[in-house]
Amino acid sequence: MSKNIVLGVSGSVAAYRACDLARELMRRGFAVRVCLTGSAEKFVTRSLFEALTGYACLVDTFEEPISGRMAHIDWARQASALVIAPATANTIAKVAHGIGDDMLTTIALAYQGPMLIAPAMNPTMYASETNQAAMAILADRGVWFVEPTVGDVACGENGQGKFADVQRIADEVVALARTSKLLAGKKVLITSGPTQEPIDMARFISNRSSGKMGAALAQAALLMGAEVTVISGPTAVRIPVGVKLIRVKTAVEMLDAGLLEVSEADFVIGAAAVADYRPAQASHSKLRRSDAHLSLELVPNPDVIAALAAKAKPGSKVIGFAAEPSEDTGYAIEKMARKGLSAIVFNDVSQPNQGFESETNRLQFLTPDGKSADSGLLSKTQCALWLIHQVVDSISS
Ligand SMILES: Cc1cc2nc3c(=O)[nH]c(=O)nc-3n(C[C@H](O)[C@H](O)[C@H](O)COP(=O)(O)O)c2cc1C
Repeated sequence: MSKNIVLGVSGSVAAYRACDLARELMRRGFAVRVCLTGSAEKFVTRSLFEALTGYACLVDTFEEPISGRMAHIDWARQASALVIAPATANTIAKVAHGIGDDMLTTIALAYQGPMLIAPAMNPTMYASETNQAAMAILADRGVWFVEPTVGDVACGENGQGKFADVQRIADEVVALARTSKLLAGKKVLITSGPTQEPIDMARFISNRSSGKMGAALAQAALLMGAEVTVISGPTAVRIPVGVKLIRVKTAVEMLDAGLLEVSEADFVIGAAAVADYRPAQASHSKLRRSDAHLSLELVPNPDVIAALAAKAKPGSKVIGFAAEPSEDTGYAIEKMARKGLSAIVFNDVSQPNQGFESETNRLQFLTPDGKSADSGLLSKTQCALWLIHQVVDSISS
């Protein structure tokens, strides 16, 4: 894979830190070409970046370093990643809405590969509805954000808005560049979120799954070039644009949808928290309160991941999840064997910041040959990338 990065620098007080970022990316083996906005030039000069990177910079839309060749198309085609760091609120909004009124935003329009944005701005600007909405649009499209940190910013306020650590941004760029083509031509089927098992027309049995891990897996698989289908139980989490999304409520619906899709999939990842039981009979009206005890008879639900594993096409990989209340992986290993899975992802949900509802997670990837790998505590998006790398590596090893 080519290792050409276009580094977009916009008009933030943190623009000077893009110099360190450019150098750090070069140290990590990337060729870095810098495109500055006009406002960035108020803070840093193009000659500084040219001296640091060894390549001519671009600023104005109509610059044409090679006569007769449109530079925005050339740069967009050659880039293996577009990194905008620091990204101003203005540039984020323009990229989100397809405005190309300078060279950087025009390159962004012409570019189709992995994109990483590291915002830096005043905390009020960062938290503003406008900026958050623009970021959400881009995140939906699979743009990778390295969020600013909390601290004192140049304007004297304290809050979230500080340009993230350069090493951290470089780590994420490396991860992003590596991943972008890993699953090209592959189909990935993901089950995600909780299921809802109706008790009556107003109530149901469900669980604490937020669907965040499934959405992160979908985004990671998309970034890796896969064709992705998500079968999602009821959740408010945003599923990235570009994914074929099938919404279901119950375990039975999830199974039915899965059976229709599974024969096409090269990878099946069962991240959904499927209810093990459902009420034997769901009332079509509303159960009324009384002083008498009420017993609910529950019947077992179908085992969705085991059924999908049984119907998966030869050579495909089926990966299950085991959310467990302790660090003991024994049950997960037994579950992997019993359900005929290619691997299982063990998730100790007794620890803080891991598993249900949290923004972070820690996973262990276990395979039938006894190998295990530990992700450490990561954001769910990073966990998802890590996990899909494990899956891909386990095939090639
Ligand atoms: C001294 C100064 C510092 C600024 N710092 C930031 C910043 O950190 N983040 C930001 O979003 N805007 C910042 N701005 C505002 C942007 O520079 C302004 O919105 C500009 O139009 C952005 O242009 P660009 O996105 O094309 O670079 C700053 C403005 C000034 C005058």
